[in-house]
Amino acid sequence: MASISIKSVWKYYGDTPAVKDLNLECLDGEFVCILGPSGCGKSSTMRMLAGLEHITAGDILFNDKRINDLPPKDRNLAMVFENYALYPHKSVYDNMANALKIQKVDKATIDKKVKWAAELLELSPLLDRKPLELSGGQKQRCAIGRAIVREPELFLFDEPIAHLDAKLRAHMRSELKIMQRRLKTTMIYVTHDQLEALSMADRIAVMRDGVLQQVGTPSEIYNQPANQWVAGFIGEPAMNFLDCSLTESNGHLHLSHNAFSFALNAEHIAKLNGSAKEHSQVHMGIRPEHVTISARATPEHPIKGEVLVTELLGGDLLVEANVNDTRVTIKTDPDYIADMGDTCYLGMDTSRWHLFERESGVSLI
Ligand SMILES: Nc1ncnc2c1ncn2[C@@H]1O[C@H](COP(=O)(O)OP(=O)(O)O)[C@@H](O)[C@H]1O
Ligand SMILES: [Mg+2]
Repeated sequence: MASISIKSVWKYYGDTPAVKDLNLECLDGEFVCILGPSGCGKSSTMRMLAGLEHITAGDILFNDKRINDLPPKDRNLAMVFENYALYPHKSVYDNMANALKIQKVDKATIDKKVKWAAELLELSPLLDRKPLELSGGQKQRCAIGRAIVREPELFLFDEPIAHLDAKLRAHMRSELKIMQRRLKTTMIYVTHDQLEALSMADRIAVMRDGVLQQVGTPSEIYNQPANQWVAGFIGEPAMNFLDCSLTESNGHLHLSHNAFSFALNAEHIAKLNGSAKEHSQVHMGIRPEHVTISARATPEHPIKGEVLVTELLGGDLLVEANVNDTRVTIKTDPDYIADMGDTCYLGMDTSRWHLFERESGVSLI
């Protein structure tokens, strides 16, 4: 098993930086997801880890040993990339056995390992099939089988299930997670899909434009985003952001929007810790699931709005409301009855607010 340290790593293609001063640790046996939109430098990072791409600056350590110049074959890792090319004329069995055959592993050992992987990946009945006779998910599992029979110290998976349909992806998410927990092999897994990262990872590293934004457990990334960009990237539907300012009256700081004003409580003030003062321009962030809606004004629903549109999503109803020219998305019960143009009243759970500095996007609360 391996622990990985990425230390101040840069990747330039010509004059263009793709990875900028990346620092990331992955513990032995840990499942770390690198999450970010297309083009943010995820695959470049993976290729440097695999030894397929020159590291422009910085160091990569496996088990505290610098491996910058170690050839790929000596890194004891297995990769599954998006375009997992299986040998079309070889059976599932031979596809999985191939790397071991090249290593001149004896036949009995190969057989044991392939059958073990097939069992784990539920491929046992399909070992004689050719890739053409497999579904997308089965091909995917075959590619993973090919990686795990080698019993590497490190898995590098780069968007391995991006091409599968939604239902199969959901299924593969849980399978991959179970597989990694069973094998306890260190995993670095790249995805642009937040659901994949949130559901599988021990920790998530969020990247944007080559820059690491935040590293944390799924719950930390979801509940305590480091900045407004992470807050907006994680969560579906996305967090609402409302232009607000901090105002003072009767010696209390208030969060003021053009449709409402709330006094900050002691907990908010403690979190702010002097980092924002009166007149500061901020964005208040609140997730759709933390906004409540009522047809009547109540003490819990003081903010008046107008229903723009509703969207029934299975067990949830999404309501888009206009609050004095700000669009707010609310996730509520499907029983809530609302028509376009109806007046509605919103409540915002003050323990679920986030405040971001408007210019920099830095998280204040
Ligand atoms: N071989 C290459 N030559 C030049 N630019 C590249 C090369 N590979 C990637 N890039 C650029 O580097 C940036 C990061 O790419 P990549 O690491 O593939 O991102 P991701 O995997 O997150 O989509 C992108 O702007 C991409 O166009
Ligand atoms: Mg990529």
